Amino acid sequence: MEKSKNPIGLFDSGIGGTSIWKEIHALLPWEDTIYLADSKNAPYGQKGKDEIIALSCKNTEYLLEQNCKLIVVACNTATTNAIKELREKYDVPFIGIEPAIKPAAIHTNTNAIGILATKGTLSSELFNKTVAGFTGVNVVEQVGYNLVALIESGKLESEEIRELLKQYLQPMIDANIDYLVLGCSHYPYLVPQIKEILPPHVKIIDSGAAVARQTKKVLEANMMLNDEKHKSTTLFYTNADPGVLNAILENKYPVERKDF
Ligand code: DGL
Repeated sequence: MEKSKNPIGLFDSGIGGTSIWKEIHALLPWEDTIYLADSKNAPYGQKGKDEIIALSCKNTEYLLEQNCKLIVVACNTATTNAIKELREKYDVPFIGIEPAIKPAAIHTNTNAIGILATKGTLSSELFNKTVAGFTGVNVVEQVGYNLVALIESGKLESEEIRELLKQYLQPMIDANIDYLVLGCSHYPYLVPQIKEILPPHVKIIDSGAAVARQTKKVLEANMMLNDEKHKSTTLFYTNADPGVLNAILENKYPVERKDF
């Protein structure tokens, strides 16, 4: 079988990377996809670099066993801590996701932008290198403590999440940010709650659409784009209770529990 017909693999610490999967599926509807939600090990954001690398290798190996032609690391924490090691170790193209600091820093009028991400992302060398390139901009960093754990336990609409967001966003409002960068693939699901808190002129950006465009570009460059118009297969695997993944996908796609 031609390699172009093989699936794209995606993984995240849990359900958040489905926000990336949606962008990829919309842009590349003919591609088969396999999504791994490593919810058993979520959150990654508080773990050390070595553990994040080990989990990322485990997920990658499972996806490679399913013949994935390209792997999307649909997790900022795994990308910023492990993508270099993944690229060195495995002979397959990897697409990563990083906080969209650059467009926010270029377009800000108030010279202040906010970034909400996990501890693992904000403390990574890759992230700090990016931020160091924009010395004239006040980058207000905030760790989203506990947000991923609450989303993973199905508490997306909870008062607890609203209270945490108020607490995390207030220093950014005080600093007069006009851009908020969502640096975790779980956070796009919090946009309605975030919009209730931020002044209306603050733009919220994430990297999902850019990741989808980059995926297309890399597939084309490697002659692996599947453009045969057929009904694509979408497989969602989780290693924890499938209920939360089903809910985030609005029960539109089959979810299977697997051991990986
Ligand atoms: N969704 C992930 C990210 O983009 C990881 C969150 C976590 O597991 O802490 O960073």
